[in-house]
Amino acid sequence: MAGSGVFAELLDGDTFKYYADGQWKRSTSGNSMTVINPTSRSTYYKLSVCTKEEMDHMFDAAREAQRAWARVPLWRRAEALHKAAALLKQNKDVIAECLVKEVAKPAKDSVTEVVRSADFIDYTAEEGIRILSEGKCLVPDSFPGNERNKLCLSSRIPLGVVLAIPPFNYPVNLSVSKIAPALIAGNAVVVKPPMQGSVAALHMIQCFHLAGFPKGLISAITIKVADLGDALTTHPAINCISFTGGDSGIAIAKRAGMVPLQMELGGKDACIVLDDADLDLAAANIIKGGFSFSGQRCTAVKIVLAMDTIANKLVEKVNVKVARLSVGPPEVDSDITPVVSESSADFIEGLVMDARQKGAKLWQEYRREGNLIWPILIDNVRPDMRITWEEPFGPIIPVIRIRTIEEGVQHCNSSRYGLQGCVFTNNIHRALIVSDAMETGTVQINSAPARGPDHFPFQGLRDSGIGSQGITNSIHMMTKVKSTVINLPVSSYTMG
Ligand code: G3P
Repeated sequence: MAGSGVFAELLDGDTFKYYADGQWKRSTSGNSMTVINPTSRSTYYKLSVCTKEEMDHMFDAAREAQRAWARVPLWRRAEALHKAAALLKQNKDVIAECLVKEVAKPAKDSVTEVVRSADFIDYTAEEGIRILSEGKCLVPDSFPGNERNKLCLSSRIPLGVVLAIPPFNYPVNLSVSKIAPALIAGNAVVVKPPMQGSVAALHMIQCFHLAGFPKGLISAITIKVADLGDALTTHPAINCISFTGGDSGIAIAKRAGMVPLQMELGGKDACIVLDDADLDLAAANIIKGGFSFSGQRCTAVKIVLAMDTIANKLVEKVNVKVARLSVGPPEVDSDITPVVSESSADFIEGLVMDARQKGAKLWQEYRREGNLIWPILIDNVRPDMRITWEEPFGPIIPVIRIRTIEEGVQHCNSSRYGLQGCVFTNNIHRALIVSDAMETGTVQINSAPARGPDHFPFQGLRDSGIGSQGITNSIHMMTKVKSTVINLPVSSYTMG
């Protein structure tokens, strides 16, 4: 149970504390905020509301701890990360239960998220050793006008303090995907967990605490974003921001100043189905890609662009599978579970109603109970409908029928988003031509969009983001190059 066993120190009465100075603390504000269970729609957990002073103190402590951490041998940093990963795996059930209650993630998927996070940390520790143990030595005489009297030694050093802001849909996995690369590279981290998902994230932080990381190196702050969000993201102590979420990332990026940014801000991932595609494979991937975690993934299939010669057959196959999806609470592993909040459900409903009113065909009857929305395939979608361009983050998939491949690619490239896309065809040449033409960070051939495996590069174009993720890229992004140039006396190079 949350807040029990090794997690007991997280609780102050019924309120979860924040983490700073290597301790769990109650906020001097005396205020709390609530985490709503999306299924029951009632308060499930309470969180501390931290003050500006507590935030400032966290950053001061992070700066100090980081200087010492940068000097800790790389193999010891890796060792500590492996310990945290092991603790995460040992406590996977408790943390998964928090995910079920806070974000209504199906029970099995919740366990998978925690295990994937532990694997992420282990891989990062090893990849960090591979990347950071190598440097370069340059000699100067390849550049005109230089003799061979200088040596440039360069290696990668940490940036300083990384601000990590993960989203509600992967509060554990997308926290560790920022924390682990930051730590292996010698940085300190301040984590601002999402409101829904905070308790799971705080439990994950406790695994780092128990692994013995130095005090102040990792902090977790719980704040009211409306009050302290700007102060947090523009804090002068920040040397890097890694953010996953919605459009608020654009505002953060505009105010961030001269710090490296890693931003993943959503997607409208298109699935282009050509006339020679394996339609069973395409239908299975549309279901998996569109309805996993009820469509609440940046990489969900958010629009299907089907060639009109095969569209009827494809829609029929998808509909058969939609009818088999179970709908209900996350505890019993339903395929479709309540979306994260009432406002999110209202937004999704608005998109469905707009499409219906403008003449789209709803293959399933629209049905909603609380935050639970039954899955729907919306056919004959046209450009004047909101669902064509907006990201629903819910269990609805729009279908547009296209006459040519070019029409599909052109639609995809007209979106403000450019995260991923996918194409289904049995002709590898056509697949590569489409991939080359699609302006997205990744194109999947014959599979639904997905971020993993977690060491693959992951990036978006346009409003989908800045920078590239994936374990290797994150380590590179959270470090900078430092050079030392050894200048030798010229005479020692002109001997004889
Ligand atoms: O929505 C966050 C994004 O990173 C999706 O990840 O693993 O579901 O493809 P994944």
